[in-house]
Amino acid sequence: MTVLEVTGLDVHYGLRRQRRQALAGASLAVERGEVVGLIGETGSGKSTLARAVLGLVRPSAGRIVIDGEDVSGYGERQWRSLRRRGVVQYVFQDPLRSLDPDLSIADSLVEPLLIQGVPRAAAEAKARTFLAKVRLDEELLPRLPGELSGGQRQRVAVARALVTEPKLVILDEPVSALDAANRVQVLEILKDLRAAGIALVFISHDLGSVAGIADRIAVLYQGELVEVGSARDIVVTPQHPYTRLLISSAPTLSTASAGRAEREALRALLTA
Ligand SMILES: Nc1ncnc2c1ncn2[C@@H]1O[C@H](COP(=O)(O)OP(=O)(O)OP(=O)(O)O)[C@@H](O)[C@H]1O
Ligand SMILES: [Mg+2]
Repeated sequence: MTVLEVTGLDVHYGLRRQRRQALAGASLAVERGEVVGLIGETGSGKSTLARAVLGLVRPSAGRIVIDGEDVSGYGERQWRSLRRRGVVQYVFQDPLRSLDPDLSIADSLVEPLLIQGVPRAAAEAKARTFLAKVRLDEELLPRLPGELSGGQRQRVAVARALVTEPKLVILDEPVSALDAANRVQVLEILKDLRAAGIALVFISHDLGSVAGIADRIAVLYQGELVEVGSARDIVVTPQHPYTRLLISSAPTLSTASAGRAEREALRALLTA
C-alpha cells in the first residue's frame, strides 16, 4: 500500500525576477511502514518537499497522492481539513516551531486528539501513553515547551506527531540539534515507530543519521531527486556523481559508525 506518491513536483518561490525553482520534477513513493531518508545539502529543497506534502507551499506542477487521495488540486480549506484529520504529520526542523510555546506539554498532546473528536479523558490517557513511548516522564506534562531541554522538546514534538496515529510522519532534521545521547535515543524511538507500521520520511543533511534507519534513501541535489535506492545500494554503490561525492567526502559515514558505537555503549550501560 502506497502512503505517499509524489510525481513530477515543481515548486517555485518568489515572483517575476525573484522567482526561483526550489524543486524540479521530484518523484517519490513511500510505502506503508517504510522509512525513507531524504538527504541533500543545505538549500537542496528537502524542507520544500516536506512543506509541499503538507500543503504549506503550493507546487507549480506535479501530483501528490496521500493515502490514495489525490490532493494536487486542493485549496486551503481542503488542506486544512486533511491536516486536521492527522493522516500526515510533520515535525519541523526547529523543535520550537513544532510546539505552541503557550500550550503545556499535556495540552500540546491532547489538542490534536480533541480536534479529532476523541473525548478528553481518553485523549489524556493517550497523551500519557505517547509520552511514555518517547521515554519522557509524566512530570513534564504541566510544563511549557520553554521549560524543557532541546532533546525533551524534540521528543514531545515526535509524540505530538504520533498521537493521532498518522499513516505518514515527515521528520525534518529531527536529530540535528541534539547531542549524541539524545540523538541515539530519538533514533531508537523512530525505529520503534517503523515496527508500528507508520511510514516515515526522515530528512537530514547527514547521511550517517539516515543510513542506519532508512529502508531507502532519496538524494536531493539542487532541487532534483538525483538518486533513490535501498540504503545499502546508496552507500555501497552510489550511481550519481553527487551521491558519490557525499559518500567519499563523508564525515557522515564516520558519524554513522560513531552512531553505532554510541548505541552499543548506551545499550551496555542500560543492561549493566
Ligand atoms: N519561503 C521561501 N521563500 C523563498 N525562497 C525559499 C523559501 N524557502 C526556501 N527557499 C529557497 O528554496 C531553496 C530550498 O530550500 P529548502 O528550505 O527546501 O532547503 P533544505 O534542503 O531544507 O535546506 P536546509 O538543509 O538548510 O534545511 C533554497 O534555495 C531556499 O533559499
Ligand atoms: Mg530544511
